[in-house]
Amino acid sequence: MPYAKIIGSGGYLPPRVVTNDELAAELATRNIETSDTWIVERTGIRQRHIADPGATTSQLATRAAQAALADAGIDAGELDLIIVATSTPDFVFPSTACLVQANLGAKGGAAFDVQAVCSGFVYALATADAFVRAGRAKTALVIGAEVFSSILDWSDRSTCVLFGDGAGAVVLKASEEPGIMAAQLNADGSQMKILCAAGNVAHGKVVGDPFLRMDGQAVFKLAVTSLTQSALDVCKEADVSLEAIDWLVPHQANVRIINFLGRRLNIPDEKVVVTVDHHANTSAASVPLAFDEARRDGRIKPGQTVLMQGVGGGFTWGSVLTRV
Ligand SMILES: CC(C)(COP(=O)(O)OP(=O)(O)OC[C@H]1O[C@@H](n2cnc3c(N)ncnc32)[C@H](O)[C@@H]1OP(=O)(O)O)[C@@H](O)C(=O)NCCC(=O)NCCS
Repeated sequence: MPYAKIIGSGGYLPPRVVTNDELAAELATRNIETSDTWIVERTGIRQRHIADPGATTSQLATRAAQAALADAGIDAGELDLIIVATSTPDFVFPSTACLVQANLGAKGGAAFDVQAVCSGFVYALATADAFVRAGRAKTALVIGAEVFSSILDWSDRSTCVLFGDGAGAVVLKASEEPGIMAAQLNADGSQMKILCAAGNVAHGKVVGDPFLRMDGQAVFKLAVTSLTQSALDVCKEADVSLEAIDWLVPHQANVRIINFLGRRLNIPDEKVVVTVDHHANTSAASVPLAFDEARRDGRIKPGQTVLMQGVGGGFTWGSVLTRV
């Protein structure tokens, strides 16, 4: 059975950077109080990239995909599978993956979206891995992309300071050597209310609440426990010890969650990729953006073992353990 091996990665961040001070000044004009000090202390976030009005998830996803294909040296025509993880799709349908396929000039392969919020990329990567392992795809493009700024309630300071926009992508190819060694996905739908955007479009109107709502403390606690267990489970499945992990690339929601996780797993800070300070939480894009950044700056090297982890609304969580 072939492995699925990551042979390229890419990322795209919209050019507009909004620092905490800039955001605090903008919120102050509407009598909403926040500060760089509060945001940095509670989250580690210093800035985020925000897409211009009208920019779409498929546009960001296409830019990341083009960078990943160039890095892999693969022509879009070779792709037989495209999966986009997003909670901010351009349309109800068709899927963002179909829009990206058209933008890339590819045709004929499977293309679909995965919806698992901030766990989306890990869900999509595990799904693509299963396709490749089963012989149903040979060359796959997996993207996490979001315009999360479009579902934020900018009058709710407890959520609007936490998120940003962006896209990250990897190209997978069938290979005789590992490759993705194990993957593990979980959900607990009974926790849907702690993080949701419970709105819909029906009969020409928005029905329900179109904005993201969150119980921050409940999410914090569940994120730490579920990611700890997931890391242990995926390592057990692959028969790889935690000490053998060269890099932990966790979902970038909050530096305090990441630090708790590292301590619980006994993984030192030097082995943990952190981008939340300059990207904020880009939901499904956060893991591939962090992976791409660390790969391009030479931290993640060929042959190393990388643990990627996602967690978010649903409630969902999961891990992918891979050799790069
Ligand atoms: C959201 C989060 C940063 C809040 O931090 P916290 O330490 O739990 O803070 P609390 O919610 O208890 O709020 C503490 C105070 O800060 C205030 N506050 C909330 N947001 C604020 C902001 N942006 N600026 C200033 N004050 C703020 C609250 O109103 C509250 O004030 P009060 O004590 O007068 O009522 C934290 O819970 C968190 O990061 N949770 C996980 C969220 C996450 O990662 N979600 C995505 C997962 S995919």
